Amino acid sequence: MASFDFIQKEIYSILPESPLDFELMHAQLVLKWVLKLKPDADEALKIAALARDIDRAITGITEKDLSDYSKINEFKKEHSVRSANFIAELLVKHGCQEEIIKKVKDLVEKHEVGGDSESDILMNADSLAYFEYNIPSYLKRNGEERTREKIKFMFSRLSDDAKKLVKQINFSDSQIASLVKESL
Ligand SMILES: [Fe+2]
Repeated sequence: MASFDFIQKEIYSILPESPLDFELMHAQLVLKWVLKLKPDADEALKIAALARDIDRAITGITEKDLSDYSKINEFKKEHSVRSANFIAELLVKHGCQEEIIKKVKDLVEKHEVGGDSESDILMNADSLAYFEYNIPSYLKRNGEERTREKIKFMFSRLSDDAKKLVKQINFSDSQIASLVKESL
């Protein structure tokens, strides 16, 4: 069976194919936040942290392809299922244990909505990484109005503890700082 380091390297070699140039950095930050929220995260949770958006690197489909933002939940569901299937295939290819594959697949399928303690951690880590790093490039790609919606969406799904962590983030860019402030 392939080691976590091997799988991590495989994922890191795929993510730069994404049309979003922050993909690899974002995945590393999600893993960082997962480990902050759950220092004893198991292999499945760590793999899910790295691979939850892997579909973008394989299909090239991003939120920019969504013309109507009110359809965001359906879009996110399809994105989660696509990523779950891709990572499961990769783990099967490398002979990972069935139990781990099943757990990774389940976590990735739920990474946008949570629902149990570990998928909630994944969702919170994903949002925290967004707040920490992704807003400037999201704003550039999608404009102020969509960014406000996105910030509200990302904040609303956070746990109370994660909301506190977001409020501690120091935004060096004043436009981003005020966008966040007015959207929370
Ligand atoms: Fe995602």
